[in-house]
Amino acid sequence: MAKVTRTPLISGNWKMHHNHFEAISTIQKLAYLLHKEDTDAVDVSVHPPFTDLRSVQTVLEADDVPIALGAQHCHWEEKGAFTGEVSPAFLAKLNVSYVIVGHSERRELFGETDEMVNTKAKAILKWGMTPIVCCGETLEEREAGSTEDKVGGQIRAGLAGIAAEQVAGLVLAYEPIWAIGTGRTASAEDAQAVCAYVRSVVAEVAGADAAASVRIQYGGSVKAANAPELMAQPDIDGALVGGAALVAEDFAGIVQFRSA
Ligand code: 13P
Repeated sequence: MAKVTRTPLISGNWKMHHNHFEAISTIQKLAYLLHKEDTDAVDVSVHPPFTDLRSVQTVLEADDVPIALGAQHCHWEEKGAFTGEVSPAFLAKLNVSYVIVGHSERRELFGETDEMVNTKAKAILKWGMTPIVCCGETLEEREAGSTEDKVGGQIRAGLAGIAAEQVAGLVLAYEPIWAIGTGRTASAEDAQAVCAYVRSVVAEVAGADAAASVRIQYGGSVKAANAPELMAQPDIDGALVGGAALVAEDFAGIVQFRSA
């Protein structure tokens, strides 16, 4: 496999937390806490709720803060009669760089299917943004030994029909559902094993070069304390952080995993 250096990507998924006032104060604190050496070495994105995006964009752009703006979800159509949905074109207009797709909460609570994940990923790419395609197994699936089947199926379906050169630039996130918001983290070895498996699936569907370039995040109760060990794993290229991303000091501590 070609040797490629993958810049880590640490992403904060705020889920349905922080109104736009809280978002502004959190992002201002984060901008103050992160140093140039942090953001030179690590890519950082924040994914606030839709109603905060414009406010956060304004803060980031006014002060040239090297944090990328992200979204948590979008529709795949550019416009139309889709009450309540948000167009990927609107996100692109706000200079959104990354959009999370197929988060387990969207799959479980809002019926997002593998086909929708695939259609959305293609739409996000079309609008010049990068999808963060999520996968992960339930506790029952893990205990039944079907983690690879589940995660492999989600990745194969999610990437179907996407050109290898585009797959190379994608971000994938392995988030075991039983580790999300529970305080339970996959051991670094387990997380590494599944991320390595995900990379092997990418190699199978898009070739060795795409697999060597694609970034794979781990998510599920990542904190400043466990980030260094997780980030030291060869196939873990970043973190998708929920709870600990809500507090600027906690999130900065994760971004600064190299100095821990
Ligand atoms: P927690 O970090 O709160 O476990 O959430 C993980 C997650 O779902 C990020 O998308």
